[in-house]
Amino acid sequence: MMRLEGKTALITGAARGIGRAFAEAYIREGARVAIADIDIDQAEDTANALGDMASSVKMDVTQQDSIDQAVNTTAESLGGIDILINNAAIFTAAPLTEITRQDFTRTFDINVAGTLFTMQAVARHMMARGKGGKIINMASQAGRRGEPLVAVYCATKAAVISLTQSAGLNLIEHGINVNAIAPGVVDGDHWDGVDAFFAKHENKPLGQKKKEVGAAVPYGRMGIADDLTGMAIFLATTEADYIVSQCFNVDGGQWMS
Ligand SMILES: NC(=O)c1ccc[n+]([C@@H]2O[C@H](COP(=O)([O-])OP(=O)(O)OC[C@H]3O[C@@H](n4cnc5c(N)ncnc54)[C@H](O)[C@@H]3O)[C@@H](O)[C@H]2O)c1
Repeated sequence: MMRLEGKTALITGAARGIGRAFAEAYIREGARVAIADIDIDQAEDTANALGDMASSVKMDVTQQDSIDQAVNTTAESLGGIDILINNAAIFTAAPLTEITRQDFTRTFDINVAGTLFTMQAVARHMMARGKGGKIINMASQAGRRGEPLVAVYCATKAAVISLTQSAGLNLIEHGINVNAIAPGVVDGDHWDGVDAFFAKHENKPLGQKKKEVGAAVPYGRMGIADDLTGMAIFLATTEADYIVSQCFNVDGGQWMS
């Protein structure tokens, strides 16, 4: 039996990486999915590759107009939104003494304000529709503790965990469950950038940091996007109705909380 049959989902940042894997998994489970991304060309390619159950929508989570338009368009074209995954985010890293206000503001705007105001727009839609819903925010193990060169990104993910807690408590009376997933290290384009940063700052050959973080995972390797899909499906099903404001580590045993 398909676990998301008849459901509709809006997934931000789904043109590639983890968001794309979520879209594929949701479609396998019977959902129709809107691939929302600032990179509309890649979003269209992804939607075409995923077939009839996927559509693409341009969305910049830093722009309120863009959020509202993408949510309205998706609600209309899919006949309502049952599930939101707030997945769009950027990574940034710098020694504390080199963090710029511009980079801080941009990263918080995408990772934190983007998550908050997309939740808000979709929650308003879900409340007006009166059928409840599921909201899943992408946090990170980076939100569980600091890292010497990653202060800003870590702080954004701690904020996502906190927003998930408050939003979940606020929205559960409307039958809207808000929860989060905290991945560990997941290979892909995002981690290529992380690896390149550490190659520069820790004077390592490219690919070395990935080897080190993979070896440090209790499970024995870096994650792949598909390692996260089981949790993303489960949190979107009625089996997760009694789960409110939680953040689940899916990280091969890296973090316990
Ligand atoms: N890859 C990891 O190791 C890892 C670990 C922990 C948490 N995460 C989190 O998982 C999520 C997905 O990560 P990923 O590795 O797939 O990242 P990714 O960089 O591969 O994909 C992010 C997507 O977000 C889109 N995006 C960026 N800015 C946007 C904006 N303003 N509006 C709309 N879309 C925008 C990008 O175009 C891209 O398609 C992120 O929230 C990330 O922080 C990733």
